[in-house]
Amino acid sequence: MLDRALPGDSPGDLVAWRVAPLIAWRGQGWSPHDRKWRMKILMVGDIVGKPGRKMLRRVLPELKRELELDFVVVNGENAAAGFGTTEGTANEMFDAGADVISGGNHTFDQRDFIPALDGEWPVLRPANYPEGTPGRGVVRIGKVAVINVQGRVFMPEGLDSPFVVANRLIEEMEDDPPAVILVDFHTEATSEQAALGWYLDGRVSAVVGTHTHVGTADTKVLPRGTAFVTDLGMTGPVNSVIGSRVEDVLARFLTAMPRRLNVAEDPGPAQFNAVMIDVDERSGLANSIERVDRFLDLRDA
Ligand code: FE2
Repeated sequence: MLDRALPGDSPGDLVAWRVAPLIAWRGQGWSPHDRKWRMKILMVGDIVGKPGRKMLRRVLPELKRELELDFVVVNGENAAAGFGTTEGTANEMFDAGADVISGGNHTFDQRDFIPALDGEWPVLRPANYPEGTPGRGVVRIGKVAVINVQGRVFMPEGLDSPFVVANRLIEEMEDDPPAVILVDFHTEATSEQAALGWYLDGRVSAVVGTHTHVGTADTKVLPRGTAFVTDLGMTGPVNSVIGSRVEDVLARFLTAMPRRLNVAEDPGPAQFNAVMIDVDERSGLANSIERVDRFLDLRDA
């Protein structure tokens, strides 16, 4: 992966920094926007339960054609009734068009699925779980590597530093670097999320957040070429508290008593939250990142 020069790194001002590459591209007869060298990648926010899986099936196949997507990453840690992933729900997500399923703090909720995390399927759990934990946090498919790490601020304790682990995984790829590196950072705190984006800027193609289920309006390409968004959002029921039935969550807040959370009722209005990242595979850096959000009423399905 090439590093992108920054204003101030060398003599010249911001204008020169922006214009010089364009002149270089013209001189060589190619453009950063040649489709041949562009990879169009979709990263989809947490799939929540049945409404989320239905929404994925309804939206993703059409989007793949419409946007000419080359690669799709889906966060699936809430796909099985909000808690983890099963063989059946993973199959549904792959059938809908996912190339990789990433995870998070709920990945181990479905005990029967834990052995599958060490199998052939490209299903990830965060890479910074302690050594010896089942599963893997990085996968490489063709030109693309996907890294999954989990935050440590307002999140379950006991995990290794996502910064140290992500850095190590990227260093381990240096002998045979993939064209594209995507990072799903599963975390609660916006500050931790932003910090990892800046830490990895110029070394990976994208750092995107999952876990909060609330899509953020801060898509940007960082100065050295890494696409970033604080959170992708969720794919699931609109009339809910981040995917769960409103009465279950309210009961917890109003009584402070334990209450099982159920995914909000299906069918009804549902949302699909994702970002599309356009990467120049020669540099591994992002040309652009934009939100791809869709809403449908599943009662019409
Ligand atoms: Fe999560």
